[in-house]
Amino acid sequence: MSASLATVSYIGATILFILSLGGLSNQQTALRGNLYGMVGMTIAVLATVFGPQVTAAGIPWIIGAMLIGAVIGLYAARTVQMTQMPELVALMHSMVGLAAMLVGVATFIDPTASFHWADGQGIPLTSAEESIHKIEIYIGILIGAVTFSGSIVAFGKLSGRIGGNPLLLPGRHWLNLVGLLVVIYFGREFVNAHTIADGMVPLIVMTVIALLFGIHMVMAIGGADMPVVVSMLNSYSGWAAAATGFMLSNDLLIVIGALVGSSGAILSYIMCKAMARSFISVIAGGFGTTSATPKPAGDAAQPAGEVTPISSVETAELLREAKSVVIVPGYGMAVAQAQHTVYEITKHLREKGVNVRFGIHPVAGRMPGHMNVLLAEAKVPYDIVFEMDELNDDFPKTDVVMVIGANDIVNPGAQDDPTSPIAGMPVLEVWKAKTSIVMKRSMASGYAGVDNPLFYKENNRMLFGDAKKMLDEVLIALKS
Ligand code: TAP
Repeated sequence: MSASLATVSYIGATILFILSLGGLSNQQTALRGNLYGMVGMTIAVLATVFGPQVTAAGIPWIIGAMLIGAVIGLYAARTVQMTQMPELVALMHSMVGLAAMLVGVATFIDPTASFHWADGQGIPLTSAEESIHKIEIYIGILIGAVTFSGSIVAFGKLSGRIGGNPLLLPGRHWLNLVGLLVVIYFGREFVNAHTIADGMVPLIVMTVIALLFGIHMVMAIGGADMPVVVSMLNSYSGWAAAATGFMLSNDLLIVIGALVGSSGAILSYIMCKAMARSFISVIAGGFGTTSATPKPAGDAAQPAGEVTPISSVETAELLREAKSVVIVPGYGMAVAQAQHTVYEITKHLREKGVNVRFGIHPVAGRMPGHMNVLLAEAKVPYDIVFEMDELNDDFPKTDVVMVIGANDIVNPGAQDDPTSPIAGMPVLEVWKAKTSIVMKRSMASGYAGVDNPLFYKENNRMLFGDAKKMLDEVLIALKS
């Protein structure tokens, strides 16, 4: 493929990626957005593999690597549970970081990388160009190493292999500052090094510090704040890819990296707002650690009052009599895979003239958009799915709220209890409805490990049991 055709393909792929991101911002256009992304990626891969930067001898290697990657990717996609998605995403981010590190080292030791290449002729880089090239390598490996080790720890925390409690080293901010100064000092040494051997020592020292920094940064983050960290690592992985693009002089990789980096940063910002956290303190690391240490998720919370249980038949009666119903799904709906029954109930109620709407919290479930994906899979119409801000004022006018496997996102303690680990996090104010019904299996706490005063409110009822099983019963009772 000629260089100009490759450039045109890259521009086409870039436009498709931008259209893809635009499409993904809305449920109605998300499918189209995905298609744009797939076509863009196919063009990008073909233009790179058959482009001028790859020699014929390299193609079998690339195809072999792609086949291995495709087999692993297909296997992972087929076997991963929806609830394990954040862990998988964290693991994938770690791969981007690792790739940036490896490309950085390979570029540094590649003797041909110190030349401009045109028509097989190598023109040595000027000393200024050489310094810029080395800075690209240094920064690329730095971001790659932080992303790699941080994502591995995030994977460990999300999958429960590493405890959710924040690790607070004494003087941790000073440790980070000293690490940063050492990295800057060795960066200078690296740029001034004249041989590969001389440059290797500062590079290795920096890589070790960056790896430790990545571990330290994510270890210092409390369990409830992990969603923001995952999207932040997503952003870092984008910048790592952009840095790789600079090292390989690949414009498309720079653009895609910047798109992922900035969209990840925007998502982190939105999630910070949703959880009332400061964006700056997240970027600086050691975030979500000032409040009380959360108990591990699923712990049986100490009962703080009397709860009023309800049966599925009584729930069906309340729903039947209601004019307006809001359904608030959470992580438990995903675990129980109850979304299809939720849809059946919604359909039935709507046919009977009940106004049914869904209220989605930005961090409901375990990944951004988790609930939207499940509801879309079950074919719930988009126009009755609302975000928290759109619905919160409507709860006083709502007859029944059904909270399905959600806990933290409907916890009034976030507003009333300043000592709560989730204090300040905006929540769906379901307790303001005439009646709220919480469906869950026990009195166990949610992800943040805190008790939920909603359960003890006078107008709240508890429907204990697996969400799918209980909703099946409610549906049968509704239809009978
Ligand atoms: P949680 O607060 O985690 O509560 C989920 C509830 O579902 C649990 O209390 C559990 O109670 C119940 N449950 C589990 N399996 C169930 C089943 N089969 N049937 C019925 N109920 C079941 O979930 P949430 O309200 O969706 O809040 C999300 C939390 O996760 C937030 O703290 C958020 O910060 C965090 N988080 C979010 C993300 C993203 S990006 N969304 C990522 C990581 C963490 P029982 O055990 O008693 O059934």
